[in-house]
Amino acid sequence: MQKITLKLFRYNPETDTKPHYDTFELEAEPTDRVLDLMEKVKGYHDGSLSFRRSCAHGVCGSCAMRINGQNMLACKTLVQDLKTSRITVEPILGLSVLKDMIVDMDPFFDSYKKVMPFFVNDEPKPAQERHQSIEDRERFDDTTKCILCGACTTSCPSFWSNDEYIGPAAIVNAHRFIFDSRDKGAAERLQILNDQFGVYRCRTIFNCTVACPREIQITQAIGEVKKAIATGSLD
Ligand code: SF4
Ligand code: F3S
Repeated sequence: MQKITLKLFRYNPETDTKPHYDTFELEAEPTDRVLDLMEKVKGYHDGSLSFRRSCAHGVCGSCAMRINGQNMLACKTLVQDLKTSRITVEPILGLSVLKDMIVDMDPFFDSYKKVMPFFVNDEPKPAQERHQSIEDRERFDDTTKCILCGACTTSCPSFWSNDEYIGPAAIVNAHRFIFDSRDKGAAERLQILNDQFGVYRCRTIFNCTVACPREIQITQAIGEVKKAIATGSLD
């Protein structure tokens, strides 16, 4: 066991004039997750602490938070990973705070919906499944891993400076279908992303790639989408 000082961002826009921080002194195992510490605070110290969580196993994408200044999933971040006994948890940036660590995800999902994140193919269905070679499947394998946690978009300085930027998460999910050989909606998606708030708002800053808990090569995927727009080819 070790002593941990956990500093938590607190803000309720309905009752508070401005945010503040609450600090808790806790005992923790090095293998405890930041989410475990927050559950301890909520369960034993202050039941009003608000944060999203669901699966607690890095799959649902609910618990993206800023932990010691960097976007991470609280359920995947161990105390020992942080290499300090002082841990600060704040909400992800660029989206309005609803309460404590809970932000309004609606603008994030509005951007996601804009890129048509679903399979498009109006051709008659084959008798069996639509076949795809192993190589064609591998083309978009990386971008299938997205769990829509928002850690990428909310770590992007281009998004902070203009929240109309569609953001890396939406581009990742567009990439997943644009480069799917069975899909027929690529041209429409590329046109959407060629907008003034589309893919060219990306300045190749790489924060998104560093933040992604699924280790998706986001900046590379964005580069591939830019190239497809510029050349008119998916090769
Ligand atoms: Fe989260 Fe990565 Fe998907 Fe972005 S690309 S929403 S960081 S899983
Ligand atoms: Fe932002 Fe990632 Fe591009 S951090 S500027 S979307 S490489």
